[in-house]
Amino acid sequence: MSAPLSFDGKVVLVTGAGGGLGREYALAFAERGAAVVVNDLGGDIKGGGKSSAAADKVVEEIKAKGGKAVANYDSVEEGEKLIQSALEAFGRIDVVINNAGILRDRSFGRTSDLDWDLIHRVHLRGSFQVTRAAWDHMKKQKFGRIIMTSSAAGIYGNFGQANYSAAKLGMLGLANTLAIEGHKYNIHCNTIAPTAGSRLTETVMPPDLVASLKAEYVAPLVMWLCHSDCQENGGLFEVGAGWIGKLRWERTQGVILRRATQVMSPESVRDKWEEICDFTDATKPANIQESLQTLVDVLSRVESDTREPSPMDAIGQKLPEMTFSYSHIECILYALGVGMSTKEPDHLKFLYENHADFSVLPSFAVIPAQASMMSGELASVPGFNFDMTRLLHGEQYLEVFKPLPASGTLTSRASIADVLDKGSGAVVLLDVHTYREEELLCYNQFSLFIVGAGGFGGRRTSDKAKSTVDAPSRTPDAVVTDETSSNQAALYRLSGDWNPLHIDPDFAAMGGFKAPILHGLCSFGFAARHVLKHFADNDVSRFKAIKVRFVKPVLPGQSLQTEMWKEGDRIHLQCKVKETGAVVLAGAYVDLHGAAEVAPGTAPVEAEELQSDLVFAEIGRRLETMGAELVKKVKAVFLWEITKEGQTVSQWAIDLKSPPGALVKGPYSGKADVTITISDQDFMEVVQGKINPQKAFFEGKLKMKGNIMLSQKLDSLLKDHAKL
Ligand code: NAI
Repeated sequence: MSAPLSFDGKVVLVTGAGGGLGREYALAFAERGAAVVVNDLGGDIKGGGKSSAAADKVVEEIKAKGGKAVANYDSVEEGEKLIQSALEAFGRIDVVINNAGILRDRSFGRTSDLDWDLIHRVHLRGSFQVTRAAWDHMKKQKFGRIIMTSSAAGIYGNFGQANYSAAKLGMLGLANTLAIEGHKYNIHCNTIAPTAGSRLTETVMPPDLVASLKAEYVAPLVMWLCHSDCQENGGLFEVGAGWIGKLRWERTQGVILRRATQVMSPESVRDKWEEICDFTDATKPANIQESLQTLVDVLSRVESDTREPSPMDAIGQKLPEMTFSYSHIECILYALGVGMSTKEPDHLKFLYENHADFSVLPSFAVIPAQASMMSGELASVPGFNFDMTRLLHGEQYLEVFKPLPASGTLTSRASIADVLDKGSGAVVLLDVHTYREEELLCYNQFSLFIVGAGGFGGRRTSDKAKSTVDAPSRTPDAVVTDETSSNQAALYRLSGDWNPLHIDPDFAAMGGFKAPILHGLCSFGFAARHVLKHFADNDVSRFKAIKVRFVKPVLPGQSLQTEMWKEGDRIHLQCKVKETGAVVLAGAYVDLHGAAEVAPGTAPVEAEELQSDLVFAEIGRRLETMGAELVKKVKAVFLWEITKEGQTVSQWAIDLKSPPGALVKGPYSGKADVTITISDQDFMEVVQGKINPQKAFFEGKLKMKGNIMLSQKLDSLLKDHAKL
């Protein structure tokens, strides 16, 4: 273990250190050897009044423990005086913690000029004044550590805190630039958004939360950020309750709405709005250069509209959405197409729609997606000027997020993830996400090889590509041999791949084949079901993903031999034509969900399973005898929305406003004082006292609308009156 962090020889200024977080920092720095300037104006929380007592008391505490400290009573608005105190007492300044703060909460319409100005003067202008006064000293000594204290109210907004939110996020902007300007002088500036119980939070948090969110859970982050060993600069951290997390910006891929020949209009913004706001594949620009680079790239793309299109222009292009409607018939036809037969009793559940466990083969998930590859839309993508007759299906990746339903209408959204230059040809990675309404069911990556289309100066590899993985060199753990019938391709094509190469001998001959060949995705389906049967007992919920490379064609009537190796939850596989020994699928694998894992979301949501129903029933019984008494204490209507898997599955209103109190199930027509949304499971945790309501609220497990102060009454309501 490395040495403890020491601040020997360092001089630290903590503003607003007379109480709350600031006091904690001052004590902690002093304890680790720093000389501390304890600044505090000693006013009230709204910025009124003045007293030296607050700072003096902390200085005394530090000295009593043998530490070094001096007090300063100036307002942070007079930053020079604070730094002067440090220089006079200790001869230098190394660390500035901008912590002083006040609140003047008002709803926005009622915010006065004074409310606005005072908040800005103390938080933003004060931090500016103090930091500027320290800046040149830090620059000269080539060392400085600065903390800005922002707030979740600034980051996310908070009702009644317009003035405070603006100033607090202003401090983050200030820190962002100081981090850049200070960097070469070893001056680092970081921002924290703390949550701790203090006199500032007393007014908005219940007392037990104020007591449990201790300032000592924030100080360690501040100390590390201010240590000379810490290289963090320009970071933003949320901290509280013993937890620390880092925040950053995220940006959608965005959309170019302007072309050389097309002006930008509000209508084009409207029409592309969803795409503009779609965070799929979002980027995280880390600095202004990265942000500007996008604009520079856009300019050059728009301007190069007139030049020859390049295959690389196709990268990122989206294809029109495709829908695919199917019933059990398509599922069964597909199962037959990939060689399932009633000869095997355990195949019946894939072939007979009235089977008690009728299931859809996971590899069927390529079928809704394949239309994106075959519709001809690819050919109209800008830059996609390839000869489609030279296109080979090179590789396939499929990931299934939920077992496919036995019927439905699915929507597939396809985009060109990348275009690679392999010299002898081009590789196009086509990503297709398939949804049922907005629920993502599966993801396919088609890897298409276009013979002779290389040499356009593109990259050879891509981090977007789902790679094949070589099988282990030991003998396989299982080998399955399966015949394909001479009609296999004729049957498989009925699932939607109408390429004549698989049925028409003349067409096949033109492509250099002696007979029509089997579809690559048909062999893929054989291999997928071999693994499913051997390693997952045909349980489709255990199938996670499959990747294969198509190496050589298979002729209908040949036998497929699948060799499989188990390595944890991954089954490596390779397929050969038994008659020739030729490898036809290589670098392939199937990923399974572990035996104990249940695929997410497969459990049916049934209202009668709700545990909360029992609790509410009990509350109802108690109300009959104690309702009147509770009404006197609580005087409010609580509306509960119980969720399961994100959906509201039941509603209960507990009316403790009008005597003698009542419990109402189902939609509530009256007015609730507070509406509480919580999952069935979290509700049980609260009721059983495993988590208290305030904690559940702060962890986002319990959401409240309306008069949230009533949450304080929840504890007694649930603990005392809902015990089972
Ligand atoms: P606090 O009220 O206990 O501490 C603030 C201190 O600043 C007080 O001792 C006050 O006298 C002093 N002060 C006020 N105006 C001053 C001025 N003009 N010059 C010098 N000192 C001045 O409050 P707490 O909670 O410790 O807050 C510390 C900082 O953390 C504040 O900037 C606050 O906005 C911020 N913060 C606190 C959160 C919390 O959960 N406690 C949440 C988010 C931000």
